[in-house]
Amino acid sequence: MCEHDLASVAAIEKDVYIFPWTIGNFRDSLLSAYDCWSCWAHGELIGYAIVMAALDEAHLLNFAVASRWQQRGVGAQFLQFLIDQARNTKRDMLYLEVRPSNAAGVRLYERFGFKQLGVRRDYYPAMTDREDALFMGLNIARKIL
Ligand SMILES: CC(C)(COP(=O)(O)OP(=O)(O)OC[C@H]1O[C@@H](n2cnc3c(N)ncnc32)[C@H](O)[C@@H]1OP(=O)(O)O)[C@@H](O)C(=O)NCCC(=O)NCCS
Repeated sequence: MCEHDLASVAAIEKDVYIFPWTIGNFRDSLLSAYDCWSCWAHGELIGYAIVMAALDEAHLLNFAVASRWQQRGVGAQFLQFLIDQARNTKRDMLYLEVRPSNAAGVRLYERFGFKQLGVRRDYYPAMTDREDALFMGLNIARKIL
C-alpha cells in the first residue's frame, strides 16, 4: 500500500465497517512503517491489510475485502498470504481482534486455525454502548514443525 492508494482504501473501509478507520489512521500506519498491504484485481484495489510486527509477533490490525468481492475466496487467499509473510519474516505468532458479531471474520479465522486466547472487554465502539473483542492467535512457529 502507498499514499496513492489511501482514497480507495478509505472508501472500502467506510463501506465495510460501521465504525471505520479514518484515512489518517491508514496514513499513520504507513508512516509508522507497519506492513500495509493492498490487494488488487484487474487494476482495482479490492482489499487491504495492516500488520504491526515486532520481534517474534505480528498483529493484524485491519483486514478487509471490498464488499462486491467478498465470498469469492479473496479473504482466504489474502489471509494465507499474510500468514506466509509473517512466517517468512520469522514471526512465531499472529494475533488479531475480531468482534464476536462478525460471523464472517470469526469463521474465516477459525478455518485457518486461529484460537481464541481471551476477550478484551468493551474494546470496540457499538451502536449502543461498546462491544467486546475476541482476542485470537495463530501459532505460526508450531505449524512449521
Ligand atoms: C472477513 C472478510 C475479510 C472475508 O473475506 P471474503 O473474501 O469474503 O472471504 P472468503 O470468500 O475467502 O471466505 C473465506 C471464509 O470466510 C468465511 N466467510 C466469509 N464470508 C462469510 C459470511 N458472510 N458468513 C460466514 N462466513 C463467511 C467462511 O469461513 C469462508 O469459508 P467457506 O466459504 O469455505 O465457508 C470480509 O467479509 C470482510 O472484509 N469483512 C468486512 C471487514 C471485516 O470484518 N474484516 C475482519 C475484521 S477482524
